[in-house]
Amino acid sequence: MEKIPIIKMVNISKNFGAVKALQDVNFEVYPCEVVALVGDNGAGKSTLMKILAGVYPPSRGEIFIEGEKVNFTSPADAISRGIQMIYQDLAVADNIDVAGNIFLGRELEKKALGGFTKIIDKKRMEELAWEALERVKINIGSVREKVENLSGGQRQAVAIARAISAKAKIIIMDEPAAALGVKETHELLELIKDLKEKKIAVVYISHRLENIFEVSDRVIVLKGGKRIADRQTKDTTMEKIRQLIVEGV
Ligand SMILES: Nc1ncnc2c1ncn2[C@@H]1O[C@H](COP(=O)(O)OP(=O)(O)OP(=O)(O)O)[C@@H](O)[C@H]1O
Ligand SMILES: [Mg+2]
Repeated sequence: MEKIPIIKMVNISKNFGAVKALQDVNFEVYPCEVVALVGDNGAGKSTLMKILAGVYPPSRGEIFIEGEKVNFTSPADAISRGIQMIYQDLAVADNIDVAGNIFLGRELEKKALGGFTKIIDKKRMEELAWEALERVKINIGSVREKVENLSGGQRQAVAIARAISAKAKIIIMDEPAAALGVKETHELLELIKDLKEKKIAVVYISHRLENIFEVSDRVIVLKGGKRIADRQTKDTTMEKIRQLIVEGV
């Protein structure tokens, strides 16, 4: 029996006015897979993943989650189906503490005043935030720390902890290593390997081929809004992928 992909995008096209950002793109992700999405600036990578994450509707095409057709009208729709996207710029909210970030948009409440009202359950959120951080094996002094005081790697880890604790089936990372140092990038790659073991699939968008070859199972290349290649990482080389990105063949 053929394995059912967790994500299947079929013939996706997206126009922004006269710009054809995507043309008839197919994209699938199988359970526990780490898929690298590569291509030059403007190739359509972020647009394709924003469509999957419910940020934009496609102009044409269909999306299936575990075989079931979906029509996302907002990121909340995608999140409720286990799709989490970590955006490079707005990975986390700076002026909120770590626990608050992990529960952003799904704050826990508890009854107060003998059941007459509800208040935010800060204590429970902090306990669960610690658990989530332990799972991503990142050292942060306190879950009450404001995120603006964290390093790039720690911020990325908070975003991943949030995705895991929201029960993500698939985590999309758009250029996660762009703002990270060497050690932090190494930690991020270890985290991705760990997600795979937790049976969470990952889509990793990056221009850094050495990182891609370290963590991915498959590489998909976009060029000018079209999918031009789909390779098992073990069956290809960095040189070949670089050539596909630049020359298209
Ligand atoms: N909101 C938007 N409005 C208009 N055009 C857009 C919008 N978003 C993307 N585009 C255009 O769509 C095309 C694909 O952009 P996209 O951001 O998906 O590329 P990318 O592969 O993520 O590039 P990069 O590697 O630079 O992040 C580009 O021509 C871009 O200018
Ligand atoms: Mg992009």
